[in-house]
Amino acid sequence: MKRSNFQILSSLIGFVGDMKWIVIMAILMGVAGFMAAILIPVLGGYGILKILANESWQPILWTMVFGAFMRGVLRYAEQASNHYIAFKLLAHIRDVIFRKLRALAPAKLETKEKGNLISLITSDVELLEVFYAHTISPVCIAFLVSLICVLWQGSLHFSLALLALIAYGTIGGLLPYFLSKSTMSAGRSYREKSAMINAKMLEGVRGIQDLLQFGSANVYKEDLIDKTRGHAKEEKKIKQQMGLGLSMSNALILFFSVLMFLWSYWLYQNGFVSYEALLISPLLQISSFGPVIALSNLGTGLAPTLGAGNRLLDLLEEEAVVEEVKTGTKPSFDRLEVDGVDFGYGKDLVLQDFSLKIPQGKVLGIRGASGCGKSTLLKLLMRFWDVERGKILVDGKKIQTIQTSALR
Ligand SMILES: Nc1ncnc2c1ncn2[C@@H]1O[C@H](COP(=O)(O)OP(=O)(O)OP(=O)(O)O)[C@@H](O)[C@H]1O
Ligand SMILES: [Mg+2]
Repeated sequence: MKRSNFQILSSLIGFVGDMKWIVIMAILMGVAGFMAAILIPVLGGYGILKILANESWQPILWTMVFGAFMRGVLRYAEQASNHYIAFKLLAHIRDVIFRKLRALAPAKLETKEKGNLISLITSDVELLEVFYAHTISPVCIAFLVSLICVLWQGSLHFSLALLALIAYGTIGGLLPYFLSKSTMSAGRSYREKSAMINAKMLEGVRGIQDLLQFGSANVYKEDLIDKTRGHAKEEKKIKQQMGLGLSMSNALILFFSVLMFLWSYWLYQNGFVSYEALLISPLLQISSFGPVIALSNLGTGLAPTLGAGNRLLDLLEEEAVVEEVKTGTKPSFDRLEVDGVDFGYGKDLVLQDFSLKIPQGKVLGIRGASGCGKSTLLKLLMRFWDVERGKILVDGKKIQTIQTSALR
């Protein structure tokens, strides 16, 4: 199913649930950490001003040292809480997936490609780590830190705030937006191709005897190589986009830093701002790009994650063929009766008006041509599927009322 990126993101955020307080903690520590990092060069600027004014600069130096120390502590705390959330959630999501698989099994799993499922359980879930550890809080941190810096610039001169806003918006907003547009589809098809290769590999291993028997090993190999090449091509495309994004964001940072300097110089020359603003404004600008750089790198890293999220949601929305009965009766199983049963997987019936009585203690053979429905009958007895017409009774009770685990 196709979902918009927004739908995928909000569903993934839904998993955070009770851990939102840890997310908020991580965000606050991240903001404080980045502010500490920004303060160091800016305080250096103020220190120079103090020296020029022949005032005492030592307190500023000690504040800088303290800021540098706190920067490390806060960054560690932020990363630790983000990863705590991420891995707790991954464990939880794996649990949800397995519970879902149990509910879907065995009817749905017979038809679903197993390679798909394996990549879902392993690499797709792993990819979500990017989202929980490296997406939610960086976005909020970038927003808050940029807001603080814009306000700070505004306290020097409103036009400086405007320029800063444009700079952050371009590097943290517009650039990732346009980059992700092109990488998003590549990311999706990359995930799909990975899954296809997984499925193909498993198919080949499971069917190795048939492949050899029918002399199709080469055909299989060519196909596998072909798929792998396509996969590599997709990866190359993604990596190229990432490189392009990185160089563009670096160029933009330089551009805006120089622009900020020139503009504050012009303001200073024309008497709109003090000498302080001339020094502090560019320093603040240059040192405050950290959080938005993290965002612009996100645009490309997020694409495969969204692909994985989409596949995960597909699985979770899949409906089981039979509801498991958890609280039904547990019979003693002394007789089994199939009464006028119709059943088919599609529109063609496999069993039609089929009846059978099996008393306790009797050994019974079921005979028939291949494909006549012997295995199907057994699957119906275990209620992997429900019959379309007629009924299956154990001790005279419909199997839909019997606790599924006891029945099986
Ligand atoms: N999951 C499924 N989805 C769709 N069709 C199915 C499915 N499983 C079996 N069938 C079809 O239902 C029919 C009955 O299959 P079934 O496996 O019950 O036959 P069988 O009597 O056990 O055959 P065999 O002797 O080869 O084991 C076959 O035509 C088969 O192709
Ligand atoms: Mg069979």
